[in-house]
Amino acid sequence: MMKLAVLKETEEGENRVALIPDSIKRLSKKGFEILVETGAGSSAGYSDQEYEQCGATLVSSARKLATQADCVVKVRPPSLQEAEMLKNDSVLIAIIQSTLRHDLVKTLTEKQITSFGLDIIPRTSLAQSMDVLSSMSTISGYKAVLLAADTINRFFPMLMTAAGTIAPAKVLVLGAGVAGLMACATAKRLGGVVEAFDVRPEVKEQVRSVGAKFVEVPVSEDGSGGGGYAKEMSDEYKQKQAELISKHIAKSDVVIPTALIPGRKAPILITEEQVASMKPGSVIVDLAAEMGGNCALTQPGQTVIAHGVTIVGHSNLPSTMSFHASQMFSRNIEKFLLHLCDENGFKMNMDDEITRGSLVTKGGQVIHELTKKLMADSKI
Ligand code: NAI
Repeated sequence: MMKLAVLKETEEGENRVALIPDSIKRLSKKGFEILVETGAGSSAGYSDQEYEQCGATLVSSARKLATQADCVVKVRPPSLQEAEMLKNDSVLIAIIQSTLRHDLVKTLTEKQITSFGLDIIPRTSLAQSMDVLSSMSTISGYKAVLLAADTINRFFPMLMTAAGTIAPAKVLVLGAGVAGLMACATAKRLGGVVEAFDVRPEVKEQVRSVGAKFVEVPVSEDGSGGGGYAKEMSDEYKQKQAELISKHIAKSDVVIPTALIPGRKAPILITEEQVASMKPGSVIVDLAAEMGGNCALTQPGQTVIAHGVTIVGHSNLPSTMSFHASQMFSRNIEKFLLHLCDENGFKMNMDDEITRGSLVTKGGQVIHELTKKLMADSKI
């Protein structure tokens, strides 16, 4: 029987848990023996008692748990100390951020850990139910709008009151992926007038379907980089985009940038000059903060005021909604595990796109191509 361990998250401000009791009940029925660190779910609203009732064995020490487990599941990348605790040759499933965390990847190879990065699962239809980036982006998009509404000195909806008419808030969403579309839909529900922009023209219809207007750059260049991700755009496109976006930023009350390039620092879409062009009291909620930010003035993990504009650089919004974030995350991991394993444990079918695509390290080697390349480049 495979021993699966759920570690309590140790990163500051992280309230999520990788598996919730409900998933544990189902996974136990499928033959997994599940060990959970005491208190692992407490900051997400899941008690030790619930875990026990669902068939988990509680273990009070992370070290004891990690050294026994055949597979450890986590939300955030393990610290180096946590990675050191893992049993040699065991399996790790977590958001690994392998393109950035070279030190961690090195430790994982040294310990011959088979590691799967939840952040690099291929974006195929089959993998949709395992995609933590999508489920967490849904939360970030929603929460970004609530933060903006809470921070701004204006109403979102248009109101006709005895004290006069209130104009609706103008919201601009940059990047209309999962988070961006959720932000559009949430801002629209609150009564804002919403516009969105993306380098991938195919999202135009999706933007419209959630009640927002699509802002179009007058240059024909497709920003789709395959796999649902964006690619880097040409200089001409960037210039035209900047001019157009400038105009829209200046008249917006709220700007929510969400643009990411996989494995790279986030592109700057809002310069200091553009921030200065906004009305005092306006708000930017930068959903790319963790990857450096889409706004030049974003301070990851902090809220700053510059030129009278509040710039929210919260780097972990899903953790602020830890109950549902954990529920979604857990469901993703459950589907992923059931895809990777049969009754004998991990199948390690390298012909399977999801298995191959999400592997970071195996047998002392770095398997993920981009990580391998970046690690080699950084040694030059
Ligand atoms: P993301 O988080 O990587 O990026 C967010 C958005 O920013 C993307 O729409 C991207 O095109 C846009 N962007 C990048 N650079 C930009 C720039 N310079 N200016 C403006 N916009 C820029 O993307 P996300 O939301 O994780 O996914 C993107 C798409 O991938 C989804 O809309 C979906 O179609 C597809 N997808 C497919 C999945 C599957 O089939 N399993 C799972 C998740 C997403």
